[in-house]
Amino acid sequence: MARTIKAVKTSHDLKQDFPVLTQLVNGRKVAYLDSAASAQKPQCVIDTMNRVMTEHYANVHRGVYSFSAKTSTEFEAARKKVAEFLNAKTEKEIIFTRNTTEGINLVASSLGQSLRPGDEIILTELEHHANIVPWHFLKEQKGIVLKIVPIKADRSLDMEAFAGLLSARTKLVSVTQMSNVLGTLVPVEEIVVKAHAAGAKVLIDGSQAIVHLGMDVQKIGCDFYVFTGHKLYGPTGIGVLYGRYEALDTLPPYQGGGEMIEQVSFGKITFKEPPYRFEAGTPAIVEAIGLGAAIDYLASLDKITIQAHEKKLLNEAEKSLGAIPGVNILSTAPQRAAILSFTIDRVHPHDIAMVFDQLGIAVRAGHHCAQPLMKALGVTATVRASFALYNTMDDVERLTDGVHKVKKLFS
Ligand code: ALA
Repeated sequence: MARTIKAVKTSHDLKQDFPVLTQLVNGRKVAYLDSAASAQKPQCVIDTMNRVMTEHYANVHRGVYSFSAKTSTEFEAARKKVAEFLNAKTEKEIIFTRNTTEGINLVASSLGQSLRPGDEIILTELEHHANIVPWHFLKEQKGIVLKIVPIKADRSLDMEAFAGLLSARTKLVSVTQMSNVLGTLVPVEEIVVKAHAAGAKVLIDGSQAIVHLGMDVQKIGCDFYVFTGHKLYGPTGIGVLYGRYEALDTLPPYQGGGEMIEQVSFGKITFKEPPYRFEAGTPAIVEAIGLGAAIDYLASLDKITIQAHEKKLLNEAEKSLGAIPGVNILSTAPQRAAILSFTIDRVHPHDIAMVFDQLGIAVRAGHHCAQPLMKALGVTATVRASFALYNTMDDVERLTDGVHKVKKLFS
């Protein structure tokens, strides 16, 4: 859906929108390079959540009084904002979840009920554990077969291998749109076309990609798309499962409880239509409205400018770190974005991250909840610097200086 560009801000201006980025860490202004784990929140998100709780907070869909009506209206308006953001056909295709992990578990649990032993699900070596473990449960419980698409030497996805794994038994392809470790971008459009031709559904884990690329679910044609609010400059505790209405309508409920039913008696229960069928219990009300505010914030910025800015930061970081002897860059796929994973010879990634912290630089180090990918890369851990719209060239310089300091310290 086309959006009006309301402002073109510089990265310096953008940093001002995020109050936490003015904080000092060990005497230095924080260089926050861990947005792939969780992004910081702009003032407008903080203000919106504060306003709701200060001015009219109440439970949604349950009260006839003014507070409840107003909060319900804002909650449903947030659902509409998400639908527009994804270019879904209708807000009925938007289910609020706790996070990406819950979205994938929901599909695994509900879709899994119709699977038979020997049915196949295709995953890739790039997946986060959240897109591995729920399917492993189905393997254990229902005897389904997991097939894994490998990565190539350049760390892009092996699309030939993918095509070779599709079969008449493939029920679902569940794939990330962007690796949380390497930043590798996956050609999801091609995957959807091939999977659908084989009669399989497609779930896309958009946790990382949605922040940098956005998403048009109608253009991509996927059946399910999941993401989390806290990486998209919104709050924690709120995520989204998009499902094509026809795909959602065939799924049984996930959790049982209030709000997801039409009628309950001890003999028989009937369920609401999507999305409410999948939203048992009181939802994350303020968080959903906060996510709506984050989407408004993003919609107020020029997407192309932000993408170009993040690309520039990534290119510069790759260039600077790549020129330092003993630094090994693992993010090498031709199509990649906003994430740089690296190691330094003879220094453990955790030690690097701890030295960085002394310098006020925040990065993630470890296996990044992607142990099968670590195995494929032949490492046990990496350091990951991830870039967001508020990062600046100064952050990249601090990262580079940090690597020089680590090298000196451990030489
Ligand atoms: N999935 C998050 C990450 O990659 C937590 O760091």
